[in-house]
Amino acid sequence: MLSKTLSLTLASAVSAVPLSSRQVPNYPVSSTSLGFKLVANVTGPAKDLTPSVNGRYFSTIHTGAGMNDAVLEVDGGRVFYLNGTASEIRYNEGHVLTDGGLYSWGIYVQGEDETGREGKHEVTVNVGSGTQGVGITRHPEPYAYLSWPAVGAFAACNQFEPYYQKNYTTIRFAYDEWNDETALPERDIPEGCVAIRLIPECATLEELPEGSQASHEFSQPTRCYDDVSAIDWTQYGP
Ligand SMILES: *[C@@H]1O[C@H](CO)[C@@H](O)[C@H](O)[C@H]1NC(C)=O
Ligand SMILES: *[C@@H]1O[C@H](CO)[C@@H](O)[C@H](O)[C@H]1NC(C)=O
Ligand SMILES: *[C@@H]1O[C@H](CO)[C@@H](O)[C@H](O)[C@H]1NC(C)=O
Repeated sequence: MLSKTLSLTLASAVSAVPLSSRQVPNYPVSSTSLGFKLVANVTGPAKDLTPSVNGRYFSTIHTGAGMNDAVLEVDGGRVFYLNGTASEIRYNEGHVLTDGGLYSWGIYVQGEDETGREGKHEVTVNVGSGTQGVGITRHPEPYAYLSWPAVGAFAACNQFEPYYQKNYTTIRFAYDEWNDETALPERDIPEGCVAIRLIPECATLEELPEGSQASHEFSQPTRCYDDVSAIDWTQYGP
C-alpha cells in the first residue's frame, strides 16, 4: 500500500492527465546493453508445459553443419545482439545475431507458408544473418521482448528431436489464424505447445576471438532487464 501511494505521487508529479480518469501505467525498469540472453515468459500460465518452461533460457542444439535448433534450457542461454544500421533498426530491418566459433549466426523464423517437422513453423539459429525483421520491441511498446513482425506468437513445444532421439522444449512460431466470422485474428498454438514471450536479460557481449569473420561494428544497444526472474509481473500494467 505504501509503495502504491508513493508511485501515485511520483506519477502525478510528471503527468497532467487527471489520475482519476485512468489506471496509472507502471512498468518494470529496463536497462540498455549490447548483449542479451532471452528468457521465456509464459503468457498463458494456465497452459504451461510440465515441467514449467517459465524462466528458461533460449539455447541452441546442434542439428547439422552450421545449423542449430532453438530450444529452452534451464541453464546457460546464448548471448545475442541486435545488428543493423540505425536506419535498419528504425524500420525493423535488422537481425538478431549470436557469435559462435569464427562466424555470425542468426535467428531464422519460418514464414507462414513454410513448415518443418509436425507442421510447425521452426525457429533455428544457423550460420548467416538470420531472418530480417527479427528484433526487440521498442517504445511505445512498454515491454521489451523478441519481436517478429507477423501476427502471432512464439511458442515453446515439447518436441522430439530426431538428431538426439529424445524430446526437447523447442521454440517455434505460431501464426494467428484468421477467423472469418469475427474478422479477427486468433491465437493458433499447436497441441503440446504454449505461447511465450522471449524477454531480453542484459548480458555481456564478449569480444570476438582472433581471426573471427564476425564483426560487432553494427551491434546496437538494446532495451533489456537486469534480472528477468526478479520481475514480479503482478505489479505491472495495464
Ligand atoms: C509475463 O507473464 C506474466 C504472467 O503470465 C504477464 O502478466 C506479463 O505481462 C508477461 N510479460 C510480458 C512482457 O509479456
Ligand atoms: C550487420 O549489419 C551490417 C549493417 O547493415 C551489415 O553490413 C552486416 O552484414 C550485418 N551482419 C550480418 C552477419 O548480417
Ligand atoms: C515427445 O514429443 C512428441 C512430439 O514431437 C510427443 O508426441 C510425445 O508425447 C513427447 N514425448 C514425451 C515423453 O513427452
